[in-house]
Amino acid sequence: MKAVKIADGIHCLPVNLESYQLFEGMWPMPHGISINAYVVEGDKTALIDLIEDTDDKPADFQDELHSIPLNERTIDYLVINHMEPDHTSWLPKLIEENPNLQIYLTKKAAGVLKSFFGIEKNLHLVGTGDSLDLGQGKVLRFYETPNIHWPETMMTFEESSGVLFSCDAFGSYGTLDGVYFDDQLSAEQQVFFHNEALRYYANIVASFSTFVIKGIETLSGLDLKVIAPSHGIIWRENPQAIIDSYTHFASYMNGPAEPEITLIWSSMYGNTGKVVDSIIEGVRSTGMTLHVHRVPEDHVGIILASAWRSSGIIIGMPTYEYEMFPPMAWVLDMFRRKKVWNKKVLRFGSAGWSGGAQRELDRLTEKLKWEFVEPIEWFGAPGAEEKARAKSQSQALVQLVRDQYFSDTPEKG
Ligand code: FEO
Repeated sequence: MKAVKIADGIHCLPVNLESYQLFEGMWPMPHGISINAYVVEGDKTALIDLIEDTDDKPADFQDELHSIPLNERTIDYLVINHMEPDHTSWLPKLIEENPNLQIYLTKKAAGVLKSFFGIEKNLHLVGTGDSLDLGQGKVLRFYETPNIHWPETMMTFEESSGVLFSCDAFGSYGTLDGVYFDDQLSAEQQVFFHNEALRYYANIVASFSTFVIKGIETLSGLDLKVIAPSHGIIWRENPQAIIDSYTHFASYMNGPAEPEITLIWSSMYGNTGKVVDSIIEGVRSTGMTLHVHRVPEDHVGIILASAWRSSGIIIGMPTYEYEMFPPMAWVLDMFRRKKVWNKKVLRFGSAGWSGGAQRELDRLTEKLKWEFVEPIEWFGAPGAEEKARAKSQSQALVQLVRDQYFSDTPEKG
């Protein structure tokens, strides 16, 4: 791949990680992800963020770098917006090639840099409002945006072009292959990248939604013309679109999210599974959008995106050895970690011979601000009564979702 020109003297160097890798060692990426570094050239040349040192990606990166007609081949500066290794693990090798490289980063990032790589030389600590003048009108100004996505994170704004290098913020899953900008997307690709942005957000950023809102406020005074994230599409025609998407995604934490239901169900011997059709029938009879996932067949990384966007969650889960069915416990614990808060919830499931799943669920979700409708639980196999209640309780949940959604957003009523 060649470098992608964004503006005079500004290029993107995207490399793609393919779908067989797990992002952060745990998140499936069925459509891969791009890692975008950037080059800004004035009299001096700066790299903004780097790439992961994996497979042949550094070679791809070098090829892209050499495709830019730089006046000088020397890289003078590196700006580190964020220390996570997907953007920094190749840094020791870059320093071997450029021992005089001057590095600009926040004070917290310097601490992380030392602990990850033992690097302490040629560091320049910067904070909000500090700048780096590259000459020829190119000025990089820095804005600390902690916890999007780690505590040390900042963003970098090139003032003459209005390009914001936002690192993880405003990013998405999905590789870049011939299409790099929002104005190049077909209608189908727009939907694709919106969904990939949501899943990326739910997996990576969701826990820090409060900081996303603060970060967006920090940027509100800038004359933004382009948003250039370190993952996914570059937004040059309508940068406000991805800001609006992220504002929406962040708002889901406190609710209401979308007026949709996510059903997540599991079953050991089919007794909990026998009620699933009645649940689906109940929700579909109302016309509300329903997302269905089975556990453990579906990965929690995929389920998180549906759950994050849905105001209502239905949990089909049997008791297992006096507690929650373990694969479902893993999903629900991830909901706790990722702050899947403020949901309307129904649970159904077999109590086995003892019950216990509901008790553990109540304990686990104490701090999630979930509002439950009365659960449906039975010993052994379900009968006609449980199936009928499953249908009516699903409809009751839909009504609760609608009541909340249209009371909080009356303009949509
Ligand atoms: Fe793309 Fe938080 O690293």
